[in-house]
Amino acid sequence: MSIEQLAETALAMVAPGKGIIAIDESTGTIAKRLSGVGVENTEENRRAYREMLLTTPKLGDYISGAILYDETLRQSTKDGVPFTKVMRDAGIIPGIKVDKSTHALAGFPGEVVTEGLDGLRERLKEYYGLGARFAKWRAVINIGEDIPSGTCIEANAHALARYAALCQEQGIVPMVEPEVLMDGDHDIETCYEVTEVTLRALFDALYNHNVMLEGTILKASMVLPGKDSGESASVEEVAEATLMCLKSAVPAILPGIVFLSGGQSDEDATAHLDAMNRMGPNPWPLSFSYGRAMQSAALELWSKDLAGNVGKAQDTVYARARDNGLAAQGRWDR
Ligand code: 13P
Repeated sequence: MSIEQLAETALAMVAPGKGIIAIDESTGTIAKRLSGVGVENTEENRRAYREMLLTTPKLGDYISGAILYDETLRQSTKDGVPFTKVMRDAGIIPGIKVDKSTHALAGFPGEVVTEGLDGLRERLKEYYGLGARFAKWRAVINIGEDIPSGTCIEANAHALARYAALCQEQGIVPMVEPEVLMDGDHDIETCYEVTEVTLRALFDALYNHNVMLEGTILKASMVLPGKDSGESASVEEVAEATLMCLKSAVPAILPGIVFLSGGQSDEDATAHLDAMNRMGPNPWPLSFSYGRAMQSAALELWSKDLAGNVGKAQDTVYARARDNGLAAQGRWDR
């Protein structure tokens, strides 16, 4: 696989006014989301829910790619059309979550490391055959008393770099996601410092592992005060801090950065992205790869009538995609 092909996919993922919908919840996470709205967590309900999302009319207007979970990549519509075909026909690039979630980092209470490297080369080969052209790996950095440790940041950066190198070897664009969690009572300055150190360690590791940045996408968390800090930051403060942090740590050669929503409200996630793009020009396209901030409203509607509310729920998905697509160009009108 040539770097040109990887770069082409990466650029298509962040095409102007387009972003990613993250629907890669593991079976455990989707169980929480479904039970939260009173829907039974069966394979058929998971399939029907993902079908509702992926068959949203004209979704490709604002969505360049969707991240799926292993089970979803293998599923089809109720009429038997593979989801990957539905996506390709809509101009949406199939992506796949390939990490095996976070696990306690031995010797470091309160810290986690992401696992999933064993057998990854073979899994990537299979995923490529099934149509996936990009993959996601999420590392989680917790902020708390005396954490994160340098060891935790290094361990996660190392795993991300090994995963990214394997993806590129198999013709798949790595979306590297080091999420600095919003949980905690830390201030926005602490989030800034931790995010900066985490990103610098990540790009050091990518460099050391011969990962080609031209064929890599960063999925970043925004710089925010901790959820329990009692602090509130304005849209402009968050946008300025996030931009400054990224500019100080992320090489300009990267084709694009997409953000996770991380528990922000739908409106905040959109407003922050819009503000960062209004502050441009920036070194990279800045877009979205939202999970909850793309789906919450639609899930709520769908849950009230699984068969009858498909159209209404899809209208909501489309509206969220349009708002975030406009925000990716700094053209969102609240
Ligand atoms: P949220 O936007 O809900 O944080 O999810 C995005 C994601 O894929 C986290 O890994």
